[in-house]
Amino acid sequence: MADATAELLDAGERLDAEALRELQLTRLRSSLRHAYDNVPFYRESFDKAGVRPEDCRSLADLARFPFTVKTDLREQYPYGMFAVPRERVRRIHASSGTTGQPTVVGYTEGDLSLWADLVARSLRAAGGRPGDVVHVAYGYGLFTGGLGAHYGAERLGCTVVPASGGMTARQVRLIQDLRPRIIMVTPSYMLTLLDEFERQGVDPRGTSLRVGVFGAEPWTEEMRREIEERCAIDAVDIYGLSEVIGPGVAQECVETKDGLHVWEDHFYPEIVDPVTGEVLPEGEEGELVFTSLTKEAMPVIRYRTRDLTRLLPGTARVFRRMEKVTGRCDDMVILRGVNLFPTQIEEIVLRTPGVAPHFQLRLTREGRLDALTVRAEARPDAGPEIRQAAARSIAAAVKEGVGVSAGVEIVDPGTLERSVGKIRRVVDLRSR
Ligand code: DLL
Repeated sequence: MADATAELLDAGERLDAEALRELQLTRLRSSLRHAYDNVPFYRESFDKAGVRPEDCRSLADLARFPFTVKTDLREQYPYGMFAVPRERVRRIHASSGTTGQPTVVGYTEGDLSLWADLVARSLRAAGGRPGDVVHVAYGYGLFTGGLGAHYGAERLGCTVVPASGGMTARQVRLIQDLRPRIIMVTPSYMLTLLDEFERQGVDPRGTSLRVGVFGAEPWTEEMRREIEERCAIDAVDIYGLSEVIGPGVAQECVETKDGLHVWEDHFYPEIVDPVTGEVLPEGEEGELVFTSLTKEAMPVIRYRTRDLTRLLPGTARVFRRMEKVTGRCDDMVILRGVNLFPTQIEEIVLRTPGVAPHFQLRLTREGRLDALTVRAEARPDAGPEIRQAAARSIAAAVKEGVGVSAGVEIVDPGTLERSVGKIRRVVDLRSR
């Protein structure tokens, strides 16, 4: 690590590995105690598993504690997971809850301050500095993206433009007028913005933007290349989830762009086998599980994120890294026995000449068999021959790389629905 960077680190980032493990154990024990003493749900689940907070004598002992899953949070809706009296909760966020009952998360004043600190740390790792103008195009509201990014950027000492999602033409105008150096937005909405720049005849490479902090949905190295080339910025990954705090759980450092450092002085990560729940050794891919170490209003113990990744040793920071998330267990499509993630198709589509980075996966049932159609948009200048070649090449790559036969449709530019936030890649028409 260069010295110039070292002086920008906060106290947590300066710990050495041994001090970090010690701090984690102390905090872990107190977080388990806090959950057990103040949340009836945790008391019951620990009692049922026959473990007490004091049984955690080493970080490895955490594996003896029961998992928490999304349905537990749903069943405790709205305030059952809170470990402090509701009056101490300063803010609520909630998941979109497309499938029935929403889930609610809460923050004390201390939690909000910690969250702002960690997003500020994330922005610094992304290359942000006090005085930068930051354009926040994550949605503001119950979603944690907008407000999470906002307070973090303010905490760093930036000038924040709270654009939120949508009104795309206006966003382009704001970026030209207010000259932000940093943009925080989902990668799919960034593509929508880039198309809008081009539609207005403005070259996005000529804007003031230098850094993009993209997250809230899976995206690939191919997507990074596409965005970096089209607007001449550094594109880095930010990860988080509402249940754990929101954005700012892990962040990719701009100097290495080699996966996301988990802010593990506050969130302890484990990787488990998604089927058996067994803890997997470092480096193996599995489901990411988090235990909060310092949260007050809503501690989470071994929360199963459903996100698939692997843990790797730290590079630019002492903290361990998580690899870019391949996908969520929930987004995995099982097609004729083959498992497939939208990111695998993204890689293929973005490598194919003549095709824009806009695609959708359609699942249908033909007789008793499931069928997949990849719909991808042609680039504006791609004629019939290029489109046909692209369709053939995508079909061959899906067959070869994923192991299933898929139909491919190359549709006209502007046909597919554009993202204004988190994109939905899979359209499942099988149950109709
Ligand atoms: O998406 C928080 C966030 C906002 C993160 C803005 C980054 C930027 P939720 O709405 O609760 O919270 O959704 C969390 O989104 O479990 C992942 O499946 C997915 N996700 C978030 N960040 C990434 C990422 C926010 N960088 C869920 N890569 C998580 C892949 C991500 N997936």
